[in-house]
Amino acid sequence: MVQALMTTEERPHALLLRGGRILDPSQGLDVVGDVLVQEGRVRRAARGAWRGELPSGCQVIDVRGLVVAPGFVDLHCHLREPGYEAKETIATGTRAAAWGGFTTVCCMPNTDPPLDTAAAVAFVLERARQQGVVRVLPIGCVTRGRSGVQLADMADLAKAGVVAFSDDGDPVADAHLMRQAFSYSRLTGLPIINHCQDKAITREGVVNEGWVASRLGLRGAPAAAEEVMVARDIALAALTGGRLHLAHVSTAGSVELLRRAKARGLPVTAEVTPHHLMFTDEWVLGYRDEGLRAPAAFPYDTTTKVNPPLRAQGDVQALRRALKEGVVDAIATDHAPHTLLDKLCTYDEAAFGISGLETALGLLMGLVQQEALDLPTLINRLTAAPAAILGLPLGTLKEGSPADVVVIDPDREWVVDVAAFASKGRNTPLAGATLKGKVVATLFGGAFVHNELAMTSGH
Ligand code: DOR
Repeated sequence: MVQALMTTEERPHALLLRGGRILDPSQGLDVVGDVLVQEGRVRRAARGAWRGELPSGCQVIDVRGLVVAPGFVDLHCHLREPGYEAKETIATGTRAAAWGGFTTVCCMPNTDPPLDTAAAVAFVLERARQQGVVRVLPIGCVTRGRSGVQLADMADLAKAGVVAFSDDGDPVADAHLMRQAFSYSRLTGLPIINHCQDKAITREGVVNEGWVASRLGLRGAPAAAEEVMVARDIALAALTGGRLHLAHVSTAGSVELLRRAKARGLPVTAEVTPHHLMFTDEWVLGYRDEGLRAPAAFPYDTTTKVNPPLRAQGDVQALRRALKEGVVDAIATDHAPHTLLDKLCTYDEAAFGISGLETALGLLMGLVQQEALDLPTLINRLTAAPAAILGLPLGTLKEGSPADVVVIDPDREWVVDVAAFASKGRNTPLAGATLKGKVVATLFGGAFVHNELAMTSGH
């Protein structure tokens, strides 16, 4: 049975998280101290012990040895509702988010019907209010029916509450339409999130074009198919003054184009997924990083099929560097849940996508362990950076902010058990892998939406 959103009665009136490492990049905060939450808001997050009086009935939890950070903000996920409830629903997807430490998720409009009308957006917002356990911010379509022929009523969608526009899953292929869409971006102040893929180049490609594709006899999609559209969109953003956000950048060439666009001061931002930071196309061959302690894998495993495809080692290194430097602004999951049958077929026929909300942090902690990124920077890319792209006062522990908080155990090792996922989508190549670093509690508006602290308190 699906639980309704926790009511204020179920939310502790006040809660003190005592003695954790508070990491809040929005305030440049990295201190050991107490976090006090009251009436659903952050009352205090600062160095040292809380010396004031505790509100009556205040719960106190010892979080020494753990990290306390703002709830994560995901700019890009697929909740599949309406229309594809066999893959995911708002109820299950937001529970997966809570489990993964995400308290705000932006959901893509490739649903059925697509989110191309105010009514469809209203449906998602209402469903999220009734059945969601974290904040859901819908993204509206750029074109009607996502068909790429005619613009959706973008001004109407903005009024209905979308936070961005995208035809994700597909690119906006027509450059003229994209130019017009950017004019509406200027008008509404909302970004266009483009899925950059020139389908005239990728055609039927299912993996990265390169030696792995050749070895496996699979059709390849070259890096250039992404890069030509990234270049086009940057040129159109410059022409129109519209805001461009690049979805799931995956190649070293895209990073270079982005770097130059930012150096010119253009209004361009970008996200990268955990899987493009941590996996290469060799995963399609069955290779698994030893550091992950994953079970033996096999070639043509359809859980590795994702769009854009997993790329080469050089791309992964470029993405990591760009994330560290802030050239790529944020991490977004592109959580793409599918049914078993969507993946229990040949590599060519399988659906694109990885179920990513619940493994994101555990996987990304690998970057910290490998010293590719420090923990404050990682948290920044999951909180303050995506919130800044949305222009919303989220991803922060500033006094008075909504008490959206995660507690992380950076040393906890756990095995990815897809059967225990909150998400309906069990499609991940991480099934059975041991990850180090786990979200052990998530608070949304001061209420626990995920809590394993009983097991870890007393650290
Ligand atoms: O792998 C992907 N899956 N990439 C996309 O762009 C769409 C997504 C989906 O909707 O399944």
